[in-house]
Amino acid sequence: MDDTARASDKGTTNTARAQQPGSKEFRDFITKRWAKPEGGLPPRLKAASYARERRARLSARFPTVRIVVPAGGLLPRSNDTDFRFRPRSDFSYLTGLGSDFEPEAVLVMEPSASGHDSTLYVLPPVRREGEGFYSDPRRGEFWIGRRPGLREFEAMTGLTTRDLADLPPGIRLGSQPTRPVARALSEARMVKDDYETAEMRRAIAATVTGFERVVRELPRAIAHRRGERVVESVFDGHAREEGNGIGYETIAAAGPHATTLHWIANDGPVREGDLLLLDAGVEVESLYTADLTRTLPVSGTFTRAQRKVYDVVLEAADAAFAVVRPGATLREVHAAAMGVIELRLSEWGIVPPSKDPKAALYRRWMVHSTSHHLGLDVHDCSAVKRDVYLDGPFLPGMLFTIEPGLYFKEDDLAVPPEFRGIGIRIEDDALVTADGVENLSAALPRRPDDIEAWMLSLRRPRA
Ligand code: GLY
Ligand code: MN
Ligand code: MN
Repeated sequence: MDDTARASDKGTTNTARAQQPGSKEFRDFITKRWAKPEGGLPPRLKAASYARERRARLSARFPTVRIVVPAGGLLPRSNDTDFRFRPRSDFSYLTGLGSDFEPEAVLVMEPSASGHDSTLYVLPPVRREGEGFYSDPRRGEFWIGRRPGLREFEAMTGLTTRDLADLPPGIRLGSQPTRPVARALSEARMVKDDYETAEMRRAIAATVTGFERVVRELPRAIAHRRGERVVESVFDGHAREEGNGIGYETIAAAGPHATTLHWIANDGPVREGDLLLLDAGVEVESLYTADLTRTLPVSGTFTRAQRKVYDVVLEAADAAFAVVRPGATLREVHAAAMGVIELRLSEWGIVPPSKDPKAALYRRWMVHSTSHHLGLDVHDCSAVKRDVYLDGPFLPGMLFTIEPGLYFKEDDLAVPPEFRGIGIRIEDDALVTADGVENLSAALPRRPDDIEAWMLSLRRPRA
């Protein structure tokens, strides 16, 4: 409990914001004469029954183990201001709680005769009766608004809910699930249930409309000295309007910036004739995120050289999609994409002859992997063992990106001058079905002719 006390002390000491009269008369005055809040208990979360199933499966795998899954705490951004809270994904997975209302909460699954007894421990809200109501910037209702109490959490999740002060001895707030439990959770999260797939569809749909908004705003980006920031802010604003926010920092990379894989400075211009690589995803309130990339001609039409590179990446993506079905593996998906890249770059005479096929010299232009699992985390299921991640057979419900790219840096003397400064990535979100694959992001055009027609339709002045 010490940690909690310190956490809330942090908010009340050394800050000018929380100063107010300390007299008893003031305290009595500010904490009284408030009308009773209206409304009953909140409804059960849609995710609650799925979370119960997930806990039951975990319980069956670790019948004698006490499982502790904390939500995590607030992270300081600067001095006494915090980042917006986002619970850890495993906590969200097992409780169904998304959004930002449960900092410091802990889920404890205690072994019992019937499997495990699950209890959610939460910090009780500091309501109007308490002094912290007006003096605690981190927890007081005057500062952060009305938060769910124990009964509300119980109603939402169906979990027995108790005060964090009653956390059983021996559990530290910073504790993590043990490595085997973390691994099992990651493995379980590889196969999405119906709720998760539906949430992913919502995240992807919101991301597609975000890309449309960016295309509509391109003239403003072109006119601004930091057009990439215009692109970023249009998408990020859209993500806040339509979801919880962005699932990761938006990459808005125009011209040669597109050859920097994680370009998030986004402080360059967006110029006619250049390409814009936009890698962005909306995270919905349940915390599931999309992860999509399109590389768009700023002027609305690809140049010959841009299209030539684009076509290779598209062929690689199509080849990767073609191998996805139950039983295939991520390693095979990657190999399919890289096979196309190697073949085409060799035909162009760019890849020098090599005595060692394992040298894979073509990787100079695509150093990342073709796929990663996707869900509550943009790079989902990261505790899964590498061999299982890469070589485990696909099951229906698995969901991952397919995102080959080619990145010819401006100063790359190994490629012809016409290609230098061109970076292309095409990223879609793929769902393994009973007999193949569904491209969940198919609504976002990915073939050059379709992209040009789509951009034209969006940029045509509306009547
Ligand atoms: N946006 C990060 C990635 O594509 O993995
Ligand atoms: Mn990705
Ligand atoms: Mn991405």
